[in-house]
Amino acid sequence: MNDQTQALLSIDGLTVRFGGLTAVDDLSFQVLPGRIHALIGPNGAGKSTTFNCISRYYDPTGGAISFAGADVTRHRAADMAALGVARTFQNLELFNDLTVEENVLLGTYSYGARGLARLLRRPVAANREFAHHLLERVGLIDFLDARAGGLDFGRQKMLELARALAIKPRLLLLDEPAAGLRNREIDKLDGILTDLASREGVTVLLVEHVMQLVMSISDRITVMSFGHKIAEGPPAEIRSDARVIEAYLGKGNLDE
Ligand SMILES: Nc1ncnc2c1ncn2[C@@H]1O[C@H](COP(=O)(O)OP(=O)(O)O)[C@@H](O)[C@H]1O
Ligand SMILES: [Mg+2]
Repeated sequence: MNDQTQALLSIDGLTVRFGGLTAVDDLSFQVLPGRIHALIGPNGAGKSTTFNCISRYYDPTGGAISFAGADVTRHRAADMAALGVARTFQNLELFNDLTVEENVLLGTYSYGARGLARLLRRPVAANREFAHHLLERVGLIDFLDARAGGLDFGRQKMLELARALAIKPRLLLLDEPAAGLRNREIDKLDGILTDLASREGVTVLLVEHVMQLVMSISDRITVMSFGHKIAEGPPAEIRSDARVIEAYLGKGNLDE
């Protein structure tokens, strides 16, 4: 197998129980390198729980997760960043009282609080240059000294993306990156993600409800409902899949 067919991320029989509730039930899927893969499904389907297992915030009840050929099922969350796995959160997790520039510089040093304190006193030129490059890319270069918490919602989401990119990830995990964005901002996000994957080979796994974005950028879509995988395939197939349409009935449809 060559690099294009060997999965970068492999989820095998992932199961997560919270007390009596099975949030994720024997879920398996693979993400190929350099591709954009979407995880969709109605609210409560288990998407965020799956994400939290991959980024190692939750311990699965069963199953295995492997990344770049290594079993990472029992890794700590901090070890995932070191391997090149970056994530953003469904609810933003920025340092509100730091500036835009500082939030991204912080991402370039993913090795803890002491490194951060040193960094903020005397940022290394190369890191600062890289941070500026990322902020240019997400359209925030004019906001370097602005307080992160004072930005509007769309800009905060773009800042979180820039911070995730600051670790130069191989795999970028995005939980609802387009939620709350305006159309113009969604178009921008579309361009950034497409570029990352096709030009830089970054692999993207996103959970998203905004179907306009999912259908436009995804190479492959995995659909979950009540913890199970109910369908998987390219966008054109998923759009017309009877099980998928049924899962979404009464919850807004795929063309929302
Ligand atoms: N930490 C938790 N404790 C208990 N139940 C949880 C927890 N996280 C998620 N759940 C439950 O697991 C199910 C799946 O949730 P989630 O993964 O957030 O779904 P989605 O992201 O697809 O909307 C839901 O029923 C939710 O209430
Ligand atoms: Mg969720």
